[in-house]
Amino acid sequence: MLVPSSLRCLPAWANRVSRIPLTRGNSYLSRNNTFFNRKRELTEFTEALSSPRPRIHVLLGPPNSGKTTLVQQVVDKLPFKPLFFDCRGGIFSTPTNMYYAIINQFYPYFKQLSVSSPSLKVDTRNIFKRKSEINAQDVIGLLRRISDPLLKWAQIEKEPAPILIIDEANMLKLLGDSSELALTSLLTWLVKNSIQDQRFHVVLTTSDPLFLNWIQNILNISHLTPYVVGDLSKEDAEEYFDTYLLPQFDSEISSELKGKFDEVSKVTGTRMYVIEKFVEEYKYHKGEIEKFSMFEQEFNRLKFGLEYEKPKKIHKFEEKPLWDGDDLRDTLKEIVEKNNEFIYTNDLVLQIGEVKVNSLLEHNFLHLRPTQRFTYDIDNLDVSKVGSILTPTNRPLAYAMEYILNGRF
Ligand SMILES: Nc1ncnc2c1ncn2[C@@H]1O[C@H](COP(=O)(O)OP(=O)(O)O)[C@@H](O)[C@H]1O
Ligand SMILES: [Mg+2]
Repeated sequence: MLVPSSLRCLPAWANRVSRIPLTRGNSYLSRNNTFFNRKRELTEFTEALSSPRPRIHVLLGPPNSGKTTLVQQVVDKLPFKPLFFDCRGGIFSTPTNMYYAIINQFYPYFKQLSVSSPSLKVDTRNIFKRKSEINAQDVIGLLRRISDPLLKWAQIEKEPAPILIIDEANMLKLLGDSSELALTSLLTWLVKNSIQDQRFHVVLTTSDPLFLNWIQNILNISHLTPYVVGDLSKEDAEEYFDTYLLPQFDSEISSELKGKFDEVSKVTGTRMYVIEKFVEEYKYHKGEIEKFSMFEQEFNRLKFGLEYEKPKKIHKFEEKPLWDGDDLRDTLKEIVEKNNEFIYTNDLVLQIGEVKVNSLLEHNFLHLRPTQRFTYDIDNLDVSKVGSILTPTNRPLAYAMEYILNGRF
């Protein structure tokens, strides 16, 4: 079935970023398992991770923008031993889960180290003690035993250096609910081993735009390097559509859509995932926008949002928005009518206040870009104006707003 029923009946406030990630499961590559372009991001990120001075890199970007794919691509090409933690499975939600998730990744690495570098005298049996009851103190002990034998980055010769990737790191908030001590111990351990002791790079990816503030507040440091994985530039997206994606489909579909990216991009924007979905579903919707599942989903969500002034109607939803329908309308109208892409955060905060802006972010109507690094998809940025920007979470949402403003429903 082309339009999964789960997409049709999402409750309006259900997809808060930190609870239900909208990203695709573990598969990180496209349908034919090849990686498209992203030349500038690849170069910049490869350079950053090749640096002999380990850091904590935070990859931000709306759901499905290509963060995980990009990280995988970069680390696959570098001489690293990636230790990959996908937080979606709840692996960091309790001290016990975290304890065993860490063992699962580090044990094989240390086993290898003990063979290739016997002089390190790695005692895996002692480091990776298995226990039935795990509390925060056990986690702290494990983390300490792991970093003790690890060499400084520059000293590792025989084995590829480890690199820690924590995917959808916003889920670490769950660990904070279960044990604040385990969470702060993990985070300070990451800082110590990367920035301070220079043992390994850490990459955190997240679709939650408020994550950066959250982690900076806990760590009380500003040593994190943020990147935003945006969408493709219009030019790259057209190339992706015509020469990369369409040839993967049967000739009927590809000949019908070839050269039509201008039209298609009005609803898909330049996010690869959305374009791919549009083409995958083409047989079903034949270009009738109303039938494109992402448009339908965002349209329904937006309608709920715009009608949000009658609280009785939504009493069953646990998290109430702190904005009302008029704020949402004004916000999206402003973006859609002004430049169709973004608004400066400060400008919107002046209009509706920070609390409402944060709540719109939490409800996944807006996405925040705290940095302009990697912002290749936005043409109209005023370089003289610094500061973060806000965009609609995806183009189908912005298109749904245009659709409603034009009175087409
Ligand atoms: N560089 C790329 N080349 C081809 N397809 C890509 C690329 N980046 C993203 N995609 C497509 O977008 C989907 C979502 O990407 P993903 O990396 O999972 O996003 P995120 O981690 O930001 O949620 C992928 O499964 C793939 O289909
Ligand atoms: Mg991802």
